[in-house]
Amino acid sequence: MFRSHTCGELRITDVSKAVTLSGWVQRTRKMGGLTFVDLRDRYGLTQIVANGEKNHDLQEKLNELGREFVIQITGDVIERESKNNTIATGDIEIDCTSITILNSSETPPFTIEAESDGGEELRMQYRYLDLRRSPMQYNLAIRHRVTKLVRDYLDSLSFIEIETPVLINSTPEGARDFVVPSRIHDGKFYALPQSPQLFKQLLMVGGYDRYFQIVKCFRDEDFRADRQPEFTQIDCEMSFVEQEDILTIFEGLAKYLLEKVKNNTYTEAFPRISYVDAMNLYGSDKPDIRFEMTITNISSVAQGKGFGVFDNAQYVGAICAENCANYSRKQLDALTDFVKRPQIGSKGMVYVKYNEDGSIKSSVDKFFSESELKAWLEQCAAKPGDLLLVLSGDITQTQEALGELRLEMGNQLGLRKADVFAPLWVVDFPLLEWDEDTQRFYAKHHPFTSPKIEDIEKLDSNPGEVRANAYDFVINGNEIGGGSIRIYNQELQKSMFTVLGFSQEEAQKQFGFLLNAFKYGAPPHGGIAFGLDRLITLFTESHSIRDVIAFPKNNAGRDLMIDSPSNISTEQLHDLGLTFVPKKD
Ligand code: AMO
Repeated sequence: MFRSHTCGELRITDVSKAVTLSGWVQRTRKMGGLTFVDLRDRYGLTQIVANGEKNHDLQEKLNELGREFVIQITGDVIERESKNNTIATGDIEIDCTSITILNSSETPPFTIEAESDGGEELRMQYRYLDLRRSPMQYNLAIRHRVTKLVRDYLDSLSFIEIETPVLINSTPEGARDFVVPSRIHDGKFYALPQSPQLFKQLLMVGGYDRYFQIVKCFRDEDFRADRQPEFTQIDCEMSFVEQEDILTIFEGLAKYLLEKVKNNTYTEAFPRISYVDAMNLYGSDKPDIRFEMTITNISSVAQGKGFGVFDNAQYVGAICAENCANYSRKQLDALTDFVKRPQIGSKGMVYVKYNEDGSIKSSVDKFFSESELKAWLEQCAAKPGDLLLVLSGDITQTQEALGELRLEMGNQLGLRKADVFAPLWVVDFPLLEWDEDTQRFYAKHHPFTSPKIEDIEKLDSNPGEVRANAYDFVINGNEIGGGSIRIYNQELQKSMFTVLGFSQEEAQKQFGFLLNAFKYGAPPHGGIAFGLDRLITLFTESHSIRDVIAFPKNNAGRDLMIDSPSNISTEQLHDLGLTFVPKKD
């Protein structure tokens, strides 16, 4: 028997028990005749003490222990003289009577404690050591708990979990595919799924009306803080449903998880906001509604007064930051620099301070009278003490820039607390997106997303205005999930392909298997997928998606521990019939 208890288990009620513990040495401290060892496993930390006066050899053995040695100790549980109320076992310690060194360890490259001195690169390289740290163990335990709860919840509603293949062909999701060359089929490639989208639709044709899968997805896309090239979805599809059925069931799932994991009970329905309103009010299709500070269109009061920058703009919008009229010149300059960053792309920022005494101070005093500026303040319902931040330009770019500025102000004012959860649905997404470069429409979600029935007539005349039965689930400014009701009617699908510029032959070539399946009685169906990694990042209040994945890729798509991606041997290349040609650029 290696252990009678774990290192997180013993309490004051266990005093005088003889116990055996096994674990890792976190640290040792010699204090006169006593040596203390903090012994760790994933359940916690227990203090071990050896008294040199009672047993000199034993104390010497403890003194020689290095960090991360694996040891087994036997001893008696005793009450501590100086208690440690920061750990669960802090009332007791183990009076050690014997020790066995199960394994030694080289000195680890960083300290394995809650707060480590190791940088992220180093911790990634030695991920197996990083995984011993309590925050990682907590995160992975929460991840396990969430997946268990998801399975329980969906199982109770007659969903069944079905696996779909990983070696497939491209799915029409929009990102690049990771591809796998086939050895047997010369010149042919598999692609890894960006999601099980088409397979789950085929399962509906197959009659499995409530499917789910906790599944790995692969996307070769640009890196962002909340993305991983391989990530996990809670993927679902249902038959004989409308949008409302899906939102109800998955709102139920989100509430169940928030209650069980975060102790947050939501009695009200989650807010719903249309895509258009989300853009107008928050400058984002994934609004953070933990705080207000919504965007106001002030074009009608700010244009036509002879200020060229505004007069030549398509749109002038503002956010009103409460009680920020005391912002200094330096702070305002920093905000101007913020909106001028290339990724935000504004040319400049105008401010209006509505001082506590009712006076008005603005960066455009020269161009606008006080009463004109007052009209802006009124439009934004500003109060004395508030600060108006104004941007202008192309409507979408400016709204998005105001959205970023709003989030920045939210951060500066401490309005985005990690332990507050503000879920909502964004609905009525546009069905199509116009691409300037290729001069054609693309499906915003995917080509099988159903338009709203009432908008179908606009599919030929005004495709850009057609709204989809598509929805996103958002928490705190993060897109947690997305889905749609699918087209199951062949005629409608044909019109959709026409709008997307696909000939029937091209459509048949790319999606033939699905279109064929739809000839055999496809039920009305729709679905959704939640991003598990993003959900756990929020639930654990982690800073990075990498902190909730046991073996993640770094932000250049590399696994530093196994040094992947890597070269393959000439023999492997030969077997696959491949030759490597270095890129020129
Ligand atoms: P979508 O592409 O919106 O929908 O993906 C669903 C959710 O998956 C998460 N997600 C990611 N998480 C981490 N890293 C990534 N690279 C990444 N990409 C996406 C997000 C997102 O909301 N088949 C459809 C779903 C459907 O229509 O039913 C789909 O994949 O949280």
